Amino acid sequence: AAQRESDLSLARLIIVSNREPYEHRLVKNHLIWERTSGGLVSALDPMMRRLGGTWIAWGSGKADRDVVDQDMTVEVPPDAPTYRLRRVWLESGEIKGGYQGYANQVLWPLCHLTLDRVDYRKLYWHAYQAMNARFAEVVLGELQMKPGFVWVHDFHLALLPGMVKASLPKQPVAMFWHIPWPGPDAFRILPERREVLESLLTCDLLMFQTQSFLHCFVECAKEFLGADLHADDGHLEYKGHATRVVSRPISIGFQTWSERAQSPQVTRSMDVLRNLHVFQPEVRIGLGVDRLDYTKGLLKRLWAIDAFFQQFPQYRGRFTFIQIAVPTRGDVEAYRRYRELIRETVNDINMRYSSISNPGSSHASRWRPVEFREGRIGLDTLAAYYRMADLALVSSVYDGMNLVAKEYVASQVDEKGVLLVSHMAGAAEEMTDALVINPYDPEGVAESIRQALEMPLQERRERMHRMRSYLAAHDIRAWADECLRDAGILPPHDSPSFE
Ligand code: ADP
Ligand code: G6P
Repeated sequence: AAQRESDLSLARLIIVSNREPYEHRLVKNHLIWERTSGGLVSALDPMMRRLGGTWIAWGSGKADRDVVDQDMTVEVPPDAPTYRLRRVWLESGEIKGGYQGYANQVLWPLCHLTLDRVDYRKLYWHAYQAMNARFAEVVLGELQMKPGFVWVHDFHLALLPGMVKASLPKQPVAMFWHIPWPGPDAFRILPERREVLESLLTCDLLMFQTQSFLHCFVECAKEFLGADLHADDGHLEYKGHATRVVSRPISIGFQTWSERAQSPQVTRSMDVLRNLHVFQPEVRIGLGVDRLDYTKGLLKRLWAIDAFFQQFPQYRGRFTFIQIAVPTRGDVEAYRRYRELIRETVNDINMRYSSISNPGSSHASRWRPVEFREGRIGLDTLAAYYRMADLALVSSVYDGMNLVAKEYVASQVDEKGVLLVSHMAGAAEEMTDALVINPYDPEGVAESIRQALEMPLQERRERMHRMRSYLAAHDIRAWADECLRDAGILPPHDSPSFE
């Protein structure tokens, strides 16, 4: 491992994303750090802890800029620093138009095929260009200090590869696209489809979560740019430049989650949480953990839970669904409305079932079908929820990967739980022992919930065991190494020189 670390530091890893992994806040004159939420940070922070290097990201914390003396660079993680975090300061127009506008209200709904939510304005595009240029300036400055390998992440920074290459044509640049890529019929609605594709095709390496997103991208590149696919070696050729395109499903620190779930703190938390949410030991528990994002299909999930108690009244008082939801992108109206709608629907369902009390059960009056907990929670608490849940329900209407599905499996050390995952989430391609659900079919999801609750222990164990073995071998470490091999930063697979 020592050799790997030093070889990598020779190559110097520079990753770039919009979201930073840790944010500053000022509380009673003390500067505190907080982890940020979202799959990108959950996956990449463990990678950077292991490999070291520099992470360039927007300094989004309320105190990031003012209190830290405009100092662009800090060592993180705060408790045990292993890598550098270099912040990009964005102007408010760039945040509003570039991040909240073009990224969150155009590219996000477009790539997730929620086309009704696309809210396009020309000025968003200009702000998005300015925001990407701001990142390019910092990346170029960083490279001037010392050469490195530039690895760009996600849809906020689609123009960055083209901008870096315009200044430094020989600079190696890779891009990982964390979210789905739509087919040409949907992508056509983006007025700047050519500009976005052209920038991405200046990359040397372009990575997607699944084969089907990769296929959609290739179709768009062919249709809108006339790019040529060299299918034999997986390159797209455009204007004399070859971009290698691959699918590399992202993952989690399996070992870390698995060990966390077995720690004494987590075991203690499980009892506390059980007492907090359910009042009888025989009550079975379902779990959802999500950013409060419309792509997660939360409303459809609640309808399915409602359908479940309608179809199977014997479970009233005997099954509770716990939903942990962290509010996200609160500056965007669609997200504020969605949050309200979810809260109202939870209340609605709980009210309805509280009046249909469950005869003969003494705790019926305290039972609620849905326990809704809003906000960010600590990793130990999260692991406790994952471990104690009889089933986890992932109902995304579209999702690049969905790491919650993998975190649940990694935390299921007793191998008793069942994963239900939407066929529209990237995770469904790998988690083949999950019960695959269609979020658009509430009665079908209700039936899958029943099936999970009534599945014999032996079958649950076998399914969970197979998924855990798969994840142990396909964790974030394996993912990062594979990507770095693709990029030529690590030697090919059969090389004996590492590990
Ligand atoms: P996305 O990338 O769209 O955010 P993922 O499911 O891939 O979706 O990743 C979500 C990440 O955010 C997971 O790592 C999960 O543990 C974390 N997360 C979600 N909700 C919470 C919460 N309430 N508190 C803390 N972390 C959360
Ligand atoms: C998804 C995206 C990430 C993003 C995260 C949280 O995981 O792929 O790029 O960081 O959601 O969203 P936010 O807007 O808070 O960064």
